[in-house]
Amino acid sequence: MSTSTLKFKIRLLDQRVAPEERERLLADPGFGRIFTEHMVRIRWYAATGWHDAELAPYAPLTLDPGTAVLHYAQAVFEGLKAFRQRSGGVAAFRADAHAARFRRSARRLALPELPEETFLEAIDVLLDADHEWVPGAPEHSLYLRPLMFASEVSLSVHPADQVTFLLIASPSGSYFPRGVKPVSVWLSEDFSRAAPGGTGAAKTGGNYAGGLLAQAQAAAQGCDQVVWLDSHEHRWVEEMGGMNLCFVFGRGGRAKVMTPALTGTLLPGVTRDSLLALGGDLGYEVEEGRISVDEWQTGCEDGSLTEVFACGTAAVITPVGAVKSARGSWVVGDGGPGEVSMRLRQALVDVQRGVAPDPHEWLYHARVSSKD
Ligand code: COI
Repeated sequence: MSTSTLKFKIRLLDQRVAPEERERLLADPGFGRIFTEHMVRIRWYAATGWHDAELAPYAPLTLDPGTAVLHYAQAVFEGLKAFRQRSGGVAAFRADAHAARFRRSARRLALPELPEETFLEAIDVLLDADHEWVPGAPEHSLYLRPLMFASEVSLSVHPADQVTFLLIASPSGSYFPRGVKPVSVWLSEDFSRAAPGGTGAAKTGGNYAGGLLAQAQAAAQGCDQVVWLDSHEHRWVEEMGGMNLCFVFGRGGRAKVMTPALTGTLLPGVTRDSLLALGGDLGYEVEEGRISVDEWQTGCEDGSLTEVFACGTAAVITPVGAVKSARGSWVVGDGGPGEVSMRLRQALVDVQRGVAPDPHEWLYHARVSSKD
């Protein structure tokens, strides 16, 4: 439970969405398409710090066209999920880790750092109002999207002295509409996602905007996703789209799960971190290392590299089945979901839903006053 010192003002909708309409929307939510009935807003002024915390009905924002974020993109966000628990109640997965990354991203973008207890209180307040929107279906969850942006009206380039924090929530199903069906990837050798000293380790919209053209290039090549290589040699594999990558060498209990090390240009994924721990718990060798494009291709060809998967909060674990690049194409394993990938996936979702024990204390049990 949080211990925020900010007092939240609660403004609930007078007229709630009818239960039948809510159930209809929750039956097939898609990803990030529908939103719950309320949102949290907190303001920050350089002179007074965080203030005016409130839960309010979900509504469009009114922004002056001169608002700094629209021009200079001083903004950060997070993505975490809340799950209906088998034993009742609702829990957010690794809320503390997301709060910490949100502060690190904010620091990199010269934004104020939101205290962890306020981040957690915002989750409690929103889930208390909207817990009925947490889906119960196995692959569904409530995707929580905290964000912060420069709300000062100014065209001068400087760290904003007025900032707005919002927390919105979106009942969601699989990020990839085809579920765990493997994706195909295009290795981008002409574009880079991040460079040393840049913002690659921060969760900021510019990293995603800068990736859209390469994603379009991947689609033009008939691939689902783009894979990013290091910006210097265009040789070392970094990430896939907005997700981390893991490589499985060998099979069965002797398999090794390797993910590219955090060099400063990769996003330190919370799912990535969780899988390193869970992989160890399941008896796999886990490693933060590096892999080149050549090693990826030859490993698949000689059978030593058996599985590749992408991981992220939204995508959970999504197998990579086929690779295409300017110099050739190859298949990973038999092109289908791998055994280690699926075992890790099940272990993760079991913890998230309270089906398996939570030895790492990853679940943040929200303070929901009227459990349904
Ligand atoms: C997430 O996995 O939560 C992400 O942020 C990826 C994407 C939806 C932006």
